[in-house]
Amino acid sequence: MTQVEEEDRSAVLEGLPPSAWMRHGVSDPDNSVAILGKKGGVGKSSLTTMLADAAVRFGLNVLGIDGDPQGNLSFAFDNEVSMVPTGKTLLGGKVEEIPDRLTIVEVLDADQEGVVDEGFEIAGWRYNPDAEFTRGGPLVKGKVGTLGIVPAYKALENISRGWGLQDVRRLDKALNQPLEPGGIVPRVRWDITLTDMLPGGADLARAFLLAQRRYLLLTTAEPFGVKAIADTLEFARDVRDNWGSPKLTDLGLIFTSYNPQGVVTRAELGELRQAQASGNKKVDVEIWAPRVSTRTLVPNSQGYRAPVSAFLSDSKNRAAAEELCQIAEAILLEILKKIGHPDAEELEELWRAAWPKLSPWATGEIGDKEIAATTKEAK
Ligand SMILES: Nc1ncnc2c1ncn2[C@@H]1O[C@H](COP(=O)(O)OP(=O)(O)OP(=O)(O)O)[C@@H](O)[C@H]1O
Ligand SMILES: [Mg+2]
Repeated sequence: MTQVEEEDRSAVLEGLPPSAWMRHGVSDPDNSVAILGKKGGVGKSSLTTMLADAAVRFGLNVLGIDGDPQGNLSFAFDNEVSMVPTGKTLLGGKVEEIPDRLTIVEVLDADQEGVVDEGFEIAGWRYNPDAEFTRGGPLVKGKVGTLGIVPAYKALENISRGWGLQDVRRLDKALNQPLEPGGIVPRVRWDITLTDMLPGGADLARAFLLAQRRYLLLTTAEPFGVKAIADTLEFARDVRDNWGSPKLTDLGLIFTSYNPQGVVTRAELGELRQAQASGNKKVDVEIWAPRVSTRTLVPNSQGYRAPVSAFLSDSKNRAAAEELCQIAEAILLEILKKIGHPDAEELEELWRAAWPKLSPWATGEIGDKEIAATTKEAK
């Protein structure tokens, strides 16, 4: 890295407004949250992106950590990693290439306290601070939050090869220890850090989870999705109990692809409720009211990478964007309340006042009756 770039980086850090934790003198908040689900393709990256979007519009400092070699979060934040030739030729005429920005790979490679402070960058999304909240602007006029990202790319896949027992602590050190003795812990600079987990339970997933205080479980309301609940909880509890992360706690469970009228959804939910009611610890997790609806946006140009809130001002996509934004905002508020964020209640009040009408997906009213019915059926 050149001298100029180094100066730019410390300017970014200095320009970062203090988080609510810093303003309130909270030195050890439980504000690192993993979006977790061992099953692939359940919408982890999509929800992480939407939560980050919501957090910025709420005026918060949010750090997105891409924990998946697929780099989906990096792509969504418009911080996709490209490889650039170094001008060096290796044996066989192969040109050496390096990533065009700092990534989670360098953070893990550094294996050093506090190094997340040096490895993030400000994400590519831009917001209009004067736009109405319901059209994609901030909740409080003029107050757009700060979005940081530690991107990932395919090289992350191989990094944990040959790791020893201690190496799974690398992200924990990088995020949860200060760079210098007595300094600020990187995590505390952010109101919330959101880690987009990779599917499965490999060492790499363990390393990402170990660095967190909380995790939100995501799964689909169908047989394999419901089966994944116990698997995922078992994985996380193993990390908590056997890998030395005693504060790692679940926040709850969110269903995606939820169809309240669907026979499969209702049957699966009925069984899950029954297992929970009979005291089965393997599936002991609070099911949250907001659910992620099956909704897609139709971007008007290919490769259009923008937060979902950007579609609030687009008449063709507004209905879908409103629903998805409200779902993510409701989930974020629930997370903020559960982690004891100092502004959680004030934000919720402002949020309720901002929307003329809230989607039943966000309030959790969708499926309420069906849940009551399946619970009765289960009994
Ligand atoms: N609410 C939604 N409605 C419709 N489609 C969705 C929704 N959320 C995600 N999808 C689609 O489902 C697919 C998987 O989503 P996503 O990549 O977010 O899942 P994931 O859990 O991160 O996957 P992986 O396990 O591979 O990391 C994507 O094609 C995405 O566009
Ligand atoms: Mg993903």
